Amino acid sequence: MKVGVLVSGRGSNLEAVLDAVAAGRLPGVEPVLVISNRPGVPALAIAERHGVPTRVMQRADFVDRAARDAAIGRALAESGAELALLAGYDQLLAGAYFSAFTGRTINVHPSLLPRHGGAGMMGLAVHASVLAAGDRETGVTIHDVTPELDQGPPIAQVRVAVRIGETADELAARVLVVEHQMVVAVLARLGAEGSGAHLSASMTAAPRARTRPRMTHERHAPDA
Ligand code: GRF
Repeated sequence: MKVGVLVSGRGSNLEAVLDAVAAGRLPGVEPVLVISNRPGVPALAIAERHGVPTRVMQRADFVDRAARDAAIGRALAESGAELALLAGYDQLLAGAYFSAFTGRTINVHPSLLPRHGGAGMMGLAVHASVLAAGDRETGVTIHDVTPELDQGPPIAQVRVAVRIGETADELAARVLVVEHQMVVAVLARLGAEGSGAHLSASMTAAPRARTRPRMTHERHAPDA
């Protein structure tokens, strides 16, 4: 299964995937392209270190966001990617993307969606929101991304207990470890099935949350 990865920054989820590929733990997965909407980010260096082709596709280089997102979709299609992984990609994808790339697109979100998803729920804000709400548990959701907000179904969801008195930074660090495990586990399953297109509805990397999630897109940051 050829995989394209969309990134915006740090790239630790990307690194978890590329390390797993390098270690032979994802035999069915071939990373073919990493696209960033921001130049000079650590994720690009990680891709280069692993010999994966990279592209920077900033909105400023296109007439508008739809044109940029269509170009991202075309680049993925031309790379042969069957699956696109949003690994810390901080933009909402325009409908034009889904017209250009008809493979599966999945996203990693650091909470138990639909809790703490939606506008502004990115990075530390997610974990601060969990703590402010007094939630006793949070977690990670990997879900399909569709053009319709809230329509992308969950693929896997894993719970993480919130510790009394911990900071958002501490919670984020613990959740991130689970993200890395989950993204590799989900890709392993998809790769073993030979394609991202036919993931069985029963697949979970770990127990589901008690609440059945309605999926919410997380990428509403100012465009870049
Ligand atoms: C992760 O927490 C991911 O769930 C969210 O953005 C963060 C990206 O981290 N979508 P990284 O770039 O993979 O290190």
